[in-house]
Amino acid sequence: MRIYCEKDYDAMSRRAACVIAAQVVSKPDCVLGLATGSSPVGTYKQLIQWHKQGDLSFREVRSVNLDEYYGLAPDHDQSYRYFMQANLFDHVDIVPENTNVPDGLAKDPAAECARYEQVAADLGYADLQLLGMGRNGHIGFNEPCAEFPLATHLVDLTESTIEANARFFASADDVPRQALTMGIGTIMKARKILVVVSGADKADAVLKAFAGPITPEVPASILQLHPDVTLVGDESALSKLTGAKG
Ligand code: GLP
Repeated sequence: MRIYCEKDYDAMSRRAACVIAAQVVSKPDCVLGLATGSSPVGTYKQLIQWHKQGDLSFREVRSVNLDEYYGLAPDHDQSYRYFMQANLFDHVDIVPENTNVPDGLAKDPAAECARYEQVAADLGYADLQLLGMGRNGHIGFNEPCAEFPLATHLVDLTESTIEANARFFASADDVPRQALTMGIGTIMKARKILVVVSGADKADAVLKAFAGPITPEVPASILQLHPDVTLVGDESALSKLTGAKG
């Protein structure tokens, strides 16, 4: 695992954007696994800037997002489809048809999960999967549980996640209780994984995920078994991980 310890959120974002740009430049038609949340926003901003300068094109890139709230329409301002449009897709030259996010309004969530898993499989899974991490160690919306879920599935969100994400909604009551998420198996099939973490409130999760036992109680801990992980964090998020180097 490569670890980049950067001084703050902006430096973390630039470093993560470098890793993604390197992927896109070396394989213009790559499959990017994309993530939402506040962690990757700065990374996307940097990518947009390089695109606007004419240094980076997403014309041939295909993308597959990790997850979506169940029950939110794509044009709901807290849906992950909306997030991706607002924070990346609408500002770069990616072809809209080449972007994939689970359908939060699917009538039959099991069928939608099967369809989405097939979309990922047909793309050959991600060349590079970008991940944020929840404070409880969740990746995508794979919450702590008894077994690592393999494929895309419908998940009940934990109270801790609902509480953490309530800041984006009018109140905690408005946070959807369920989500469609790629499974841990889907994520682990990516050829490369890039994790971005910032802030002191992630320090415990980082420590447990990368220096603790591999357990579905800390979903991100499975990443210790992946052969190509790059962890990019700011100093506060990596403060408990000894040996982190800039
Ligand atoms: C959400 C997303 C995750 C994300 C996590 C952390 O629950 N499903 O993909 O990594 O939140 O979010 P943030 O980066 O805002 O801390």
